[in-house]
Amino acid sequence: MTPNCDILIHHTKRFMFVLGFILIAECESAKILGIMPTSSFSHQIVFQPLWKELSLRGHQVVVLTTHPINDKSLTNLTEVHLDSVRKFFKELRFYDKLAENAETFIDLGLYLKSVTIKLTYHLVKSKLVQNVLRTNRVFDLVIAEAHFPSILGLIGYYRCPWIGVSSMDPALQYHLAIGNPVHPVLNPDGNLDIADLENLNFFERFSSFIYRNAYIHEFKNELPRLTAISREYLGEDLPSLSEIQSNVSMLFTSAHPIFHNLRPVHANTIFIGSGIHLRKPEILSNNLKTFLDEAKGGAIYFSLGSNVNANILNPDFKKALLDTFANLPYHVLLKLDANLTDVPKNVLVQKWMPQQDILRHPNVKLFITQGGLQSLQEAITNDIPLIGIPFFGDQLSNVNKMVKRGYGVKLDKKGITKESLTNAIKEVMENPKYREKAREMGAIFRDEEVPSLQRAVYWTEYVIRHKGARHLRSPVVGMPAWKYYMLDVVGFLTLIVVLIVILCFVLVKVSFWLVLRCFTNKKSKKKTN
Ligand SMILES: *[C@@H]1O[C@H](CO)[C@@H](O)[C@H](O)[C@H]1NC(C)=O
Ligand SMILES: *[C@@H]1O[C@H](CO)[C@@H](O)[C@H](O)[C@H]1NC(C)=O
Ligand SMILES: *[C@@H]1O[C@H](CO)[C@@H](O)[C@H](O)[C@H]1NC(C)=O
Repeated sequence: MTPNCDILIHHTKRFMFVLGFILIAECESAKILGIMPTSSFSHQIVFQPLWKELSLRGHQVVVLTTHPINDKSLTNLTEVHLDSVRKFFKELRFYDKLAENAETFIDLGLYLKSVTIKLTYHLVKSKLVQNVLRTNRVFDLVIAEAHFPSILGLIGYYRCPWIGVSSMDPALQYHLAIGNPVHPVLNPDGNLDIADLENLNFFERFSSFIYRNAYIHEFKNELPRLTAISREYLGEDLPSLSEIQSNVSMLFTSAHPIFHNLRPVHANTIFIGSGIHLRKPEILSNNLKTFLDEAKGGAIYFSLGSNVNANILNPDFKKALLDTFANLPYHVLLKLDANLTDVPKNVLVQKWMPQQDILRHPNVKLFITQGGLQSLQEAITNDIPLIGIPFFGDQLSNVNKMVKRGYGVKLDKKGITKESLTNAIKEVMENPKYREKAREMGAIFRDEEVPSLQRAVYWTEYVIRHKGARHLRSPVVGMPAWKYYMLDVVGFLTLIVVLIVILCFVLVKVSFWLVLRCFTNKKSKKKTN
């Protein structure tokens, strides 16, 4: 099968299921609440198809979101636009700050903690949210982002089953809450910059160990305070946030073996990471289509995603980009929200671009990205190799994993010069090994048992049908560490060994003493004789 044919069949399969799917597994119409407060396009688009699909299947879906779909035809979907939360993140300059604080993991952890507290206040006090609580007394299921613990109060308010979802790999407290092991060497946190994720050196293992334990400790310690804040606005009878957190029925993770280390998980952790947000091809606008069609020598697509603000890039960075691109025999699409001057003829700059359709164009040979997971999925599903320039969050580990997998190279955001960028582009464009790897990974990525959306819908309705998933709950949740690590058993065995050793020692000593005594007795007897 040629790769193009493979992709075509894949896309056809992906979009055909929606038709046939309606026929399977009935589930009575339920009331579902989605709570998605992270103001980021990539966090939101992954779940838009889920809201849509659930509403089309007859469920009444209410979603608190910073990025509504605004599709009037979806009559069972009510979107509550969290405009003020979007402003909240904007005023904090959250992503800029995240990039600045990504230098050391201590700064990063402290920063995330401070945002969590502020966001909790903001959410529970919000008039919009209060209004939703007042008008919707009952939900059968809550689906909420498993990142900031700030949302836990809203989840607990409804005393119903809930599912934690993530457009990446969920934050580690949610893996712990559902009973999945969180091993600092096998699964270091995505925020850490670890070169070889499958073989950490001593310093990295040490950092990962400290990060994991400090993070767990800090966030656990914060929960009583967040509980108090939430109770103030949501009622004093609200369960504690740690109870609500560990009451989670399921976790939907976007982790995928191509982009993440493998992680042992329980059956209540569902993998939905094969690109829920990938959509049907749409026709490119005329100017983009012509620009790409004319790129006979190949085209490069450059985008740092929706969260890296062009104003945090220093002027040298922008100059290096244009200088490099001007001297390339390729066409370059540059997605950047900046007013650039002296743009070379072979470069087209736009504030926004239809990324999925651009990456589908056969002339696009390279994608220069910040390394967000959705961007990597969009590239790999089209067999396109990459250059990654990570800024913050999981971009660091995504890009490191990509380098490890061999379908791209990494550039340090601080070391971008005309020379380094030119070399990286030459390397990926001219050395066929990157394209071959991308093709290999693309074929694996597209080879899925059932599309992720179908899996997500199935397990959502499963939780509704069974009013939670208590039977899938691991007994490890709430188990004290000494039981889990069998410290009592180890202690008991150690005690037995110690007793045996002491016993042997005593026996040896006694027999020695007896022999000696016998011997001296004989001797003294002889003497007296
Ligand atoms: C809305 O839900 C009802 C059942 O509750 C269903 O019959 C109808 O097709 C749904 N409509 C849309 C547009 O999703
Ligand atoms: C835990 O979830 C169950 C449903 O799965 C719900 O009935 C119960 O009230 C929840 N408890 C808390 C503390 O949220
Ligand atoms: C670019 O220029 C336009 C018009 O001069 C201005 O409105 C806009 O804010 C500028 N954008 C940036 C990112 O500087």
